[in-house]
Amino acid sequence: MGRVDDKVALITGGASGIGRATAELMAREDAMVVLTDVQDEAGADVAATIADAGGMVAYHHHDVTDEAAWIKIIEEVRAEYGRLDILVNNAGISGASGVPVEEIALESWRGTMSVNLDGVFLGVKHGVAAMTEGGGSIINTSSILGFVCLPFTSAYSASKGGVRLLSKAVAMECAARGLKIRVNSVHPGFIDTPMVGGAIQKGGPERREAILSSQPTGEMGRPEDIAEGVLYLASDAAKFVTGSELVIDGGYLAR
Ligand SMILES: NC(=O)c1ccc[n+]([C@@H]2O[C@H](COP(=O)([O-])OP(=O)(O)OC[C@H]3O[C@@H](n4cnc5c(N)ncnc54)[C@H](O)[C@@H]3O)[C@@H](O)[C@H]2O)c1
Repeated sequence: MGRVDDKVALITGGASGIGRATAELMAREDAMVVLTDVQDEAGADVAATIADAGGMVAYHHHDVTDEAAWIKIIEEVRAEYGRLDILVNNAGISGASGVPVEEIALESWRGTMSVNLDGVFLGVKHGVAAMTEGGGSIINTSSILGFVCLPFTSAYSASKGGVRLLSKAVAMECAARGLKIRVNSVHPGFIDTPMVGGAIQKGGPERREAILSSQPTGEMGRPEDIAEGVLYLASDAAKFVTGSELVIDGGYLAR
C-alpha cells in the first residue's frame, strides 16, 4: 500500500519540474492524481507517462490565476472522484526577477503576484471549502526566498514570503475552526528545473557557476528531492504537522 493510497490529489503546475516530480511520486504511492497546468501538451505527456507506469492520473487545463477555473476544476474533481484530500499549490513563475526594483513595471509586479500569490490564495480558498467536511492537506510551494532575499528578486521574494504567512494564517484558522485541514509550506532551495534553467540561460555560464558556488553542497537539488517532502506533508505520517515550513535546500539557509 502506498503512502497516499486512496487519496485524491490535485497538483497545480504539474507539467514541469517540481510539480511533475510530485505528480509522478504521488501516483507511484497510489494516489489518484489530477495534475493541472497551462502547458497542455506537456501536461498531457506527463499524464500519459504516469498512466503507462500504471498510475491513476488525469490532466486538466487550469490557469491558477482564474477563480472561475478553480471553481470548475474542484467541482470536476469532487464529481469524478468523490472528494479532494490533497492540494499542492505548486504553479509558479520567476516573473519580474533579474531587474532592479525601479525598473519593474506595475504590470510585471502584478503578473508575478497573480500566479505566485493570488493563485495560491485561490487554491487555498476553494481547497478549504472542498475539504471542510472530509479534511485534507494543503501544501503551498514557497521558496528559500520566502525567508531570505537575493538582489533583483523583489517581486518573487515578496510573493513567496506572502505564501509562507498565508499558509500559517490559514493553518491557524482551520485549527481554530476545528477543521481537519492541515496547511503547510515547502521551501525549495536551488532545484534543477526549467525555471532555474531559464535564469542560467539568461545569465550564462557565470550564473550557473555563481549558483553552484552558493550551494553548501556544491550542487543543486533535484525536483524529486522536493517531491519527497511534499509527499510526507500530504500523507497521514504528517497528521500532527500544520502551519510548518519544510525547508529542502541542501543547507542553503543554514549558514
Ligand atoms: N526550481 C527552483 O529552484 C525553485 C526554488 C524555490 C521555489 N520554486 C517554486 O517551485 C514551484 C515549481 O517551480 P519549478 O522550478 O518546477 O518551475 P517550472 O517552470 O519547471 O514549473 C512551473 C509550472 O507552473 C506552470 N504555470 C505557470 N503559470 C501557471 C498558471 N498561471 N497556471 C497554472 N500553471 C502555471 C508552468 O507552466 C510550469 O509547468 C514554483 O512555485 C517555484 O516558484 C522553485
